[in-house]
Amino acid sequence: MKFRKKILCIGAGYVGGPSMAMIAYKCSDYRITVVDTNPDRIDAWNSAELPVYEPGLDIIIKKTRGKNLFFAKDIENQIKENDIIFVSVNTPTKTYGAGADMAADLQYWEKTARQILKYSRSSKIVIEKSTLPVKTALAMEKILSSGKGKIKFEVLSNPEFMAEGTAMSDLENPDRVLIGSHETKSGLKARAELIEIYARWIPLKKIITSNIWSSELSKLVANAFLAQRVSSINSVSALCEKTDADITEVSRAVGTDSRIGDKFLNAGIGFGGSCFKKDILNLVYLCSYYGLPEVAAYWESVVKINEYQQERFIANILKSMFNTLAGKKICVLGFAFKADTGDTRESPAINITRKLLAEQAQIIISDPRALKNAALDLADIKGSIKYVEDPYQAAAGCHALLILTGWDLYRRLDFKKIYRSMVKPAFLFDGRNIVDHNKCFTIGFNVYPIGKPALSHL
Ligand code: NAD
Ligand code: UGA
Repeated sequence: MKFRKKILCIGAGYVGGPSMAMIAYKCSDYRITVVDTNPDRIDAWNSAELPVYEPGLDIIIKKTRGKNLFFAKDIENQIKENDIIFVSVNTPTKTYGAGADMAADLQYWEKTARQILKYSRSSKIVIEKSTLPVKTALAMEKILSSGKGKIKFEVLSNPEFMAEGTAMSDLENPDRVLIGSHETKSGLKARAELIEIYARWIPLKKIITSNIWSSELSKLVANAFLAQRVSSINSVSALCEKTDADITEVSRAVGTDSRIGDKFLNAGIGFGGSCFKKDILNLVYLCSYYGLPEVAAYWESVVKINEYQQERFIANILKSMFNTLAGKKICVLGFAFKADTGDTRESPAINITRKLLAEQAQIIISDPRALKNAALDLADIKGSIKYVEDPYQAAAGCHALLILTGWDLYRRLDFKKIYRSMVKPAFLFDGRNIVDHNKCFTIGFNVYPIGKPALSHL
């Protein structure tokens, strides 16, 4: 089949794979290739066991892979072959040198820019899909224009707003698609080419355009606002616990104000995931860099409250269980950073488990999708950890249950059966406020929710 356009995506991760699968599904006359420096990831994308778990992803992959969606390892050749290149490589927090623990590490992104320059034989549109500090496109343009030939590169910013666990529905029906470009003739032409792709399934009124810098900054700010809501409600949950107010009731009362809205007001053990913390720290770094210390401090407090919330949760476990966890068995229900994903990057469960192990507790971890990643996250630990997928087996013989991920299946567990199998007094710490606390209390558990009075028989 002759394809209308050839698209390449560099980076076959949580964003590159699902987002390109959706474009391939919606644009059967475009040929999409996804490449990665990690050959194992490419093999996994070409296998029956995809490297990323997302509800609905396997169905779209089945419909497109080998038809107009390809996963390949020959990066150099693919750069030559394709007209439009999305860059979706990772942009983690820098761990070394200037800006360590704050700034974005742009080494993967810069390597990609240099590769594009080196192997291109024709002009191309290069699209930033990774989340990047504002003004990164300028650096990308400088690298791409440092060649001697006549080849021209037009850089666009098209940040991705999908969330894990709901990636496929977010990609199919996004609140908006954002495209930043230069307002030059060539910039507007490139922008129109990208709009043409998204307009296949997204109404034009949802495709927002802006200048490149606004687009880059909007992505960081959107994540900062979302994380800020989580920290705001979590900070109030601490006050609820002191005053016998109930955080669920407060969230509902506050969220029904249409100016505030009811989403992202679930109190819990804090936000995890690969992006919120890194993107806020990136924003903090940018503010400091541009001489705005007050603004930097404002956003940094969002991360500090997130850490405080986890420490509060751990302190509460220790205090409630008579100030000693040594030798006690604790069952961790859920290790993924949120439900419906196997991703554990920056999951609060990592820090909580490590702190409990430091108290010499024995930990049994259960999760329907994230046990492999959990074992990698805790590989350096010498303490006692077991990985048991079945939640009933995991809980048997334990002193306490900790719900750390809001998996739906935990709402439906037979807590009577679990209670019978546990050491008494049995403790339940619901870090996501997802189970029926009164029911569990009646069964016999000592129940400790977030932002609500504890229900204790002791
Ligand atoms: P990821 O780590 O899952 O995937 C990135 C991939 O890029 C890796 O497989 C890595 O091997 C590959 N890579 C790195 N350098 C490369 C190079 N030079 N050539 C080819 N491949 C290379 O990361 P991700 O979660 O997909 O995130 C990618 C970007 O998208 C980040 O900037 C992130 O902030 C942003 N983002 C992520 C999400 C999310 O839900 N995970 C959502 C929106 C935006
Ligand atoms: C987030 C954003 O929602 C996406 O728009 C963005 O594209 C993405 O980051 C990114 O840039 O990577 P994601 O991290 O996948 O998506 O998942 P969220 O649903 O935002 O949840 C993030 C964390 O906040 C989770 O740990 C979740 O449990 C927590 N959370 C969320 C709460 O504790 N309470 C809430 O009310 C909502």
